[in-house]
Amino acid sequence: MFNTKASVYTWRANQKLLQDTENIKKILSGIAKTHDQLIITDDDLERATPGVSSIFCGRDALVAEGVTCIVNNNQAFLAILGAGGIGKTSIALHISNAAEVKTKYAKASYFLPCEVLPDAKLLLQGIIQRLDIRAGEGESQYKKLEEHLRVNIQPMLLILDNFETPWNNNPVEIESLLGKLASFDQVSMIVRMRGLNGPGSLRWKKLGSESIPPLTLDSAKKVFSAISQKQDLEQEKHGVATILIELDCVPLAITLIAKRARTSPLKSLLKMWQEGKTKTLKQGNTDGRLTSVNFSIELSTRLLKPQETELLAVICFLPDGVPDWVENLSEMLTGWEQLDQSINTLLENSLVYSKNETIKVLAPIREYVCRIQHTDITRAITPLGSFYATWLKHLSGTEQAQQNQIQPHIMNITKIFIFNQEN
Ligand SMILES: Nc1ncnc2c1ncn2[C@@H]1O[C@H](COP(=O)(O)OP(=O)(O)OP(=O)(O)O)[C@@H](O)[C@H]1O
Ligand SMILES: [Mg+2]
Repeated sequence: MFNTKASVYTWRANQKLLQDTENIKKILSGIAKTHDQLIITDDDLERATPGVSSIFCGRDALVAEGVTCIVNNNQAFLAILGAGGIGKTSIALHISNAAEVKTKYAKASYFLPCEVLPDAKLLLQGIIQRLDIRAGEGESQYKKLEEHLRVNIQPMLLILDNFETPWNNNPVEIESLLGKLASFDQVSMIVRMRGLNGPGSLRWKKLGSESIPPLTLDSAKKVFSAISQKQDLEQEKHGVATILIELDCVPLAITLIAKRARTSPLKSLLKMWQEGKTKTLKQGNTDGRLTSVNFSIELSTRLLKPQETELLAVICFLPDGVPDWVENLSEMLTGWEQLDQSINTLLENSLVYSKNETIKVLAPIREYVCRIQHTDITRAITPLGSFYATWLKHLSGTEQAQQNQIQPHIMNITKIFIFNQEN
């Protein structure tokens, strides 16, 4: 009897021990996983570094401007800003590949794909890894980096691609890291991000002085024909132009539709675009920044707060955008809270842009927001309707002068009118 009891106890004790060991193993493997994620290898960086595409049109002036800035200044801070898929990374790669840049930064030009370095800690690790600095266990990586930069004083170029990722996560720490790097005169940086301004308080030179614009129609046609490998586009040139204009000549969208054109006739592509819009702009089944326009846009829209998403939807609803927006926006949406902050966020994330004092949105973004997101905008219709009713009443001057004033708003007015009729 006693023996049986003893064996049951021993068995239970053993079971508990086994269970505890299993639990400890689980905890340790969790710790190991977290720790492993913090180690960025050269392969991780290489895998996330895009190649330089040979099909590259319409950016000669911007590349030349970037090269001059990087080569002619002892220390340069160049910001390449603009919407998703507009071609920022491609421009950065072509600048760093230019002969003069290669000569100046022969031994020390480093590409940092910040998409895989999403916070200050990992960004620092990525830089340490790229610079091949060895930091032993317990040693400060900052100190090691500073020691390295004190000794290695040849010109160094850091290309910080997709910088919005770490910047949005840790702006304060990232700014401090940038400040430390910038305190070494030999360090120049190209930052490439979706945004309106370079990060923090360094004096960034904006390439092209504003955001990177879409391609011209001519360059867009060249890209389309090179990628689609359609030699004879002459008969189909109107169809091609229609598609490219509908895509607002955004390079990512052109690239994806041109790849589809290799196998689908243009007529059916145009039909597909008109029916499925941005869904057409996808390559294969993988969702990625470079394989799906929707995915690329979603990278920016998912950062928005509800009132910012709503404002973006209203802007996308208005075909003319918001003309004379500094004056008109708050009157068009009277009663809306934090409009200033919301419009600023949309501009900062390059989801909308301001041209000739009008807030506009690129076609792929509009189509994504209107067709995929389906944000309810009914709250905006009444103030918009009242705004235009009052505005039309107060128009003055000759008939021609009034027509000139109405022209930039005409499609907005029609759309609101139709919306009210239908709802
Ligand atoms: N000037 C160009 N000529 C031809 N193709 C281009 C051009 N610019 C960009 N592309 C193509 O368009 C796609 C998107 O370009 P890129 O990755 O440079 O955009 P991005 O602005 O960096 O986007 P993201 O904001 O997502 O990082 C790529 O496939 C690229 O090869
Ligand atoms: Mg990019």
